[in-house]
Amino acid sequence: MTTRPGTAADVAALAALDAACFGARRWPREAWEEVILHPAWLTLVAETAGGELAGAAVLLCQRPVSSLASLAVAPAWRGCGIGSALLNDCILRCRGACANEVVLEVDEDNEPAMRLYRRFGFRPRRGFEDEGIRRVEMTLTLSESGRRLP
Ligand SMILES: CC(C)(COP(=O)(O)OP(=O)(O)OC[C@H]1O[C@@H](n2cnc3c(N)ncnc32)[C@H](O)[C@@H]1OP(=O)(O)O)[C@@H](O)C(=O)NCCC(=O)NCCS
Repeated sequence: MTTRPGTAADVAALAALDAACFGARRWPREAWEEVILHPAWLTLVAETAGGELAGAAVLLCQRPVSSLASLAVAPAWRGCGIGSALLNDCILRCRGACANEVVLEVDEDNEPAMRLYRRFGFRPRRGFEDEGIRRVEMTLTLSESGRRLP
C-alpha cells in the first residue's frame, strides 16, 4: 500500500469511495473535482499493490492552522493501518508547512475515527450540532505533540 497525491484521474474512484463510506452524506462528484484541482487543497490517496483506491484524505495544509476535511477507508480495507498511514502522511505534511495546529470535525458517536484521532494525539476542543448530528471539533497541537507521533 502506498499513499500519493490524488489526480483528476482518481475523481470517479474517490466519489465511489466516498459513497461507500458516507452514504447520503457523501460529497457530490463536483466537490471532488474541485478539491483535486484547487491548489490549496491536497487529496492523498492510499493505493493497494493491485492498484485499488482503498482510502483517501483531504487536507487544507497551511499555517498556522491546517484542516483535515475528509478521511475514509474502504470497508474491506479497514483495520489494516491505512487510516493511520493517511493520517500520518497528513500530519507530516502539516509539519512540513510549519502549521501549529491541525483541526478536524467528527461525529460524536464515530468511535473508530475518534480512537484513531486520539491515538495520534488529537483532543476534543468543543462539541456542536450540525443538522441534528452531534459533532466534535478535535485539534492536534503540533508544537506540543511532535515527540508523540508514531
Ligand atoms: C475511521 C477510519 C478512517 C479508520 O480507518 P482504518 O484504515 O480502519 O484505520 P486503521 O486500520 O489505521 O486503525 C483502525 C484499527 O485497526 C488497528 N490496526 C491497524 N493496523 C493493523 C494491523 N496491521 N493489524 C491489526 N490491527 C491493525 C488499529 O490499531 C486500530 O485499532 P483501534 O480502532 O482499536 O484503535 C475508517 O473506519 C473509516 O473510513 N470510517 C468511515 C469514514 C469515517 O468515519 N471517516 C472519519 C470521518 S471524521
